[in-house]
Amino acid sequence: MERTFIAIKPDGVQRGLISEIVSRFERKGFKLVAIKIVIPSKDFAERHYHDLKERPFFNGLCDFLSSGPVLAMVWEGEGVIKYGRKLIGATDPQKSEPGTIRGDLAVVVGRNIIHGSDGPETAKDEINLWFKPEELVNYTSNAENIFHFQMAAKPLT
Ligand code: GTP
Ligand code: MG
Repeated sequence: MERTFIAIKPDGVQRGLISEIVSRFERKGFKLVAIKIVIPSKDFAERHYHDLKERPFFNGLCDFLSSGPVLAMVWEGEGVIKYGRKLIGATDPQKSEPGTIRGDLAVVVGRNIIHGSDGPETAKDEINLWFKPEELVNYTSNAENIFHFQMAAKPLT
């Protein structure tokens, strides 16, 4: 099943937005398969954002990501990579739609509270960078059972 890497950045953690953000993924019906809180080193942040090395904000971005606790997660579900990005909203919170995480909860691009993988390859690379294979938990959620497997036609007596 499809998996994506989602991280609440230090501003989101410090603003007390963990439960709000986790809840949006959970209520949608996605399944949490890994979670931990870490303070990444600057070197680790640079590896995470290596694609943006040439951008003028790269150094500030990596300083920021390594400035405090980050909540790192792996979420699983049908279409979770693309739909996760929809839940998150546009990169610049001034352009994110209301109803999205950044649209509802953030104001400036440099403090946009959350990261989400932008495609299947990045998702795989980012999950491998942040988590060891044994930190990912395999289980079937009740939501999944309802979506894919069984739904009682009438109440059981
Ligand atoms: P992530 O999920 O964090 O990867 O964001 P994104 O995929 O929506 O955007 P992108 O990967 O292009 O940029 C990564 C991060 O760099 C963004 O989330 C912003 O925090 C930051 N960033 C992007 N563009 C700008 C910019 O023009 N100025 C500043 N200061 N930061 C930027
Ligand atoms: Mg990105």
